[in-house]
Amino acid sequence: MGFFNDTELVPPDPILGLTVAFLEDERPNKVNLGVGAYRTDGLEPFVLDCVRKAEARLLEQGLDMEYAPVEGPRDYIEGSHRLIFGELSEELAERTFVTQSPGGTGGLRLVGELVAREMAPRIGLSTPSWVNHELIFTRSRHELHHYPYGGGDTIDSGAMLDAISKLPERTALIIQPCCHNPVGLDPDRDTWLELCEITKRLDLFPIFDFAYQGFGESVEDDAWPIRHFAREGVELAVTQSYSKNMGLYGHRVGALHVLAATPDDARRIGTQLKRTIRSFYSTPPCHGARLVGTVLSDSELTANWRAELEQMRQRIVAMRDGLAGALSEAGATLEVPSGQRGMFWLSGLSREQVDRLRDDHAIYCPSSGRLNLAGLAPGSLRQVAEAVATVG
Ligand code: LMR
Repeated sequence: MGFFNDTELVPPDPILGLTVAFLEDERPNKVNLGVGAYRTDGLEPFVLDCVRKAEARLLEQGLDMEYAPVEGPRDYIEGSHRLIFGELSEELAERTFVTQSPGGTGGLRLVGELVAREMAPRIGLSTPSWVNHELIFTRSRHELHHYPYGGGDTIDSGAMLDAISKLPERTALIIQPCCHNPVGLDPDRDTWLELCEITKRLDLFPIFDFAYQGFGESVEDDAWPIRHFAREGVELAVTQSYSKNMGLYGHRVGALHVLAATPDDARRIGTQLKRTIRSFYSTPPCHGARLVGTVLSDSELTANWRAELEQMRQRIVAMRDGLAGALSEAGATLEVPSGQRGMFWLSGLSREQVDRLRDDHAIYCPSSGRLNLAGLAPGSLRQVAEAVATVG
């Protein structure tokens, strides 16, 4: 009898497991619309020019490979804070504890731990939400409260606000400020204003899961909801990721910002988080943060990055429009709603239709029917649209 005879067998991850299956598929016309990763028009992974340049500079500097500070390098932290809070950054710096995190996921796991220990183990999540949210917060011992979000071509603001206003006081709330994963639709400004009021009234703690800054409208516009809540004096957290907007997926480079009521609170939060980090992974990896720090502390590289980010955003918009046109040409009943933003289209395809897409047409997407539009190329639009029309 082994120690682990009763260990439960866990099925493959609904998103990452797809990439494994996709790589094993030998059909030449296969298309991966599963994991949210950006591809070029030639369906290649994209390494940004600003990142290549930053990497060349780092190489020239011949840096050592000593341990990084627990919260990451200074230029990285300060540059990341400026991106989130913009013109408020200086004024809020003393009240914010910022730490590098292993991607956005690592930041979510860290803040989950902080909230469970220091506030209350309760998290509000949209339905639907990114599939990993549920795992992250159940593993950090939270009780989950779900609020409806909507789908198709509209989000259900009324139902969402109503459910949020019934949450117990001092609940932490996961909110996506732009390019909602998987729905692809964001609240309008009036809804944000109302949500902020509810947050203040009920003493909720918003955690902005900000994985797509720059993919919605622009770096600045996408951060507007966070800045609005901060201006209104709300205590909040932001989990930031450079996976998508700087294409640094595999470097696992993100940050957690906790904006507290006072500088003293921020300092104490910092000591707690640093202790948690020490127990989870001790200190962060160096390279990704050095790359981002180099880009963000050099005005030329920053301008280069912003231009490349805008190109990525526009390519995704073109793929969304292209798929909408190709679906109608193929006579599909499904439509890509206008007004969607970001990488994803939640198509409404059933699990069975998704299976047929994969088995009969070599097109991969999660069983939720979410398609990663950033994984499309002009050359695959017709194939995907015809396949969707056939199964749908
Ligand atoms: C996604 O939703 O596909 C991405 O955020 C990648 C991931 O880790 O799930």
